[in-house]
Amino acid sequence: MVVSIRFAGSAPDIFLEFAVNKMTVRDIDVAGKRVLVRVDFNVPLDVNTGAITDDRRIRAALPTINYLLERNAKVILLSHFGRPKGKVVEDMRLTPVARRLSEILGKPVATTRDCVGQEVENAVAALKGGDVLLLENLRFHAEEEKGDDAFAKALASLGDVYVNDAFGTSHRAHASISGIARYLPAVAGFLLEKEINTLGGLLENPNHPFTALFGGAKVSDKVALLKNIMGKVNTILIGGGMAATFLRAKGYSVGASAVEDDIINIANDLIKDALKNKVNLVLPVDVVVAAKPDGSAKGQIVSVDKIPLGQMILDIGPGTITAFENELKRSKTVFWNGTMGIAEIPQFAVGTNTLAKLLATLKAKTVIGGGSTAETIAKLGLTDKITFVSTGGGASLEFLGGDQLPGVVALRDKI
Ligand code: 3PG
Repeated sequence: MVVSIRFAGSAPDIFLEFAVNKMTVRDIDVAGKRVLVRVDFNVPLDVNTGAITDDRRIRAALPTINYLLERNAKVILLSHFGRPKGKVVEDMRLTPVARRLSEILGKPVATTRDCVGQEVENAVAALKGGDVLLLENLRFHAEEEKGDDAFAKALASLGDVYVNDAFGTSHRAHASISGIARYLPAVAGFLLEKEINTLGGLLENPNHPFTALFGGAKVSDKVALLKNIMGKVNTILIGGGMAATFLRAKGYSVGASAVEDDIINIANDLIKDALKNKVNLVLPVDVVVAAKPDGSAKGQIVSVDKIPLGQMILDIGPGTITAFENELKRSKTVFWNGTMGIAEIPQFAVGTNTLAKLLATLKAKTVIGGGSTAETIAKLGLTDKITFVSTGGGASLEFLGGDQLPGVVALRDKI
């Protein structure tokens, strides 16, 4: 896995080179070994039924799991699930995930009630080559998120080698992500490799015109990425809640929309940077507003210079959809992160759904940052029509923003 991407240094126009050159599961002997595989099985559940609504993260780990099983390894899977904050939360057990994995693999997946301790040690000792064991939610222990060394060591003692295939969590310096790698030979799994290669390649070698489409609530999450892609894209389209901060920076009154006051100056700088770099930064011309983001609220389409007091932006309007569609249709590369409105509420999901359906028809290379955008694409049944849908939300933003991910840094370098 060799990737060279450029990222912004402290000054916006200074770029540094760095290369990721890490060993993968192909580079080590796993036959008959106890292989600890960190996966990200943090999948969305239906709040009413508890059913898994999108199992993409489980399926995405299959190439690594199957590769290990074919080599008669004892596969010990580690994952977090939700944010239980260091306590046992019954609703956050990995039981439904184990059930789904077992269905997909067509073989039993053993589970434990914890991820360390005597019961776990016994379960690991009982494994035979070709068996799969999924340990309980790592985040039931506060030590996981603290990156606690003794906890990492206890986890490491369960295996002979460590494989990180949890791209979606690789931006966290947690015990199971960067800690275990201090005690075991540590390599990348196939999903991690694919994510790094695809997302790294997106910035390194895009076909032009290259359009980046951004939405979601906050600009602050995406500032590093916006800065990093400024010299690489031709067009930036901004919708979603974050458009309010940009519109305010341009002097519009945005009613009751949430604005990040401390980011207004940065938004202004980004607008200036776009001009300097000849990037076409497109903001909404019209929006759908209502008094609150509620299923019973009725939306009203208004021009961005006529947003009423007390009303908030909840979707992009039809004029904006057409403007964005025109840019996307002529693009050869598209990156999308963040919904255009409230994707869960039908009357405020029109922008998101329309653009998702358009993306699925484009001949362009289309790449989706994970998180809610990926979930929306999955709900619409369009995942297979997109070139690459990342399994990482925050991780893909940080990686494309130029950060080195702790979960990648910790792995063994190729010799
Ligand atoms: C995600 O869903 O983005 C990852 O599983 C990481 O989860 P976290 O944001 O709770 O660390």
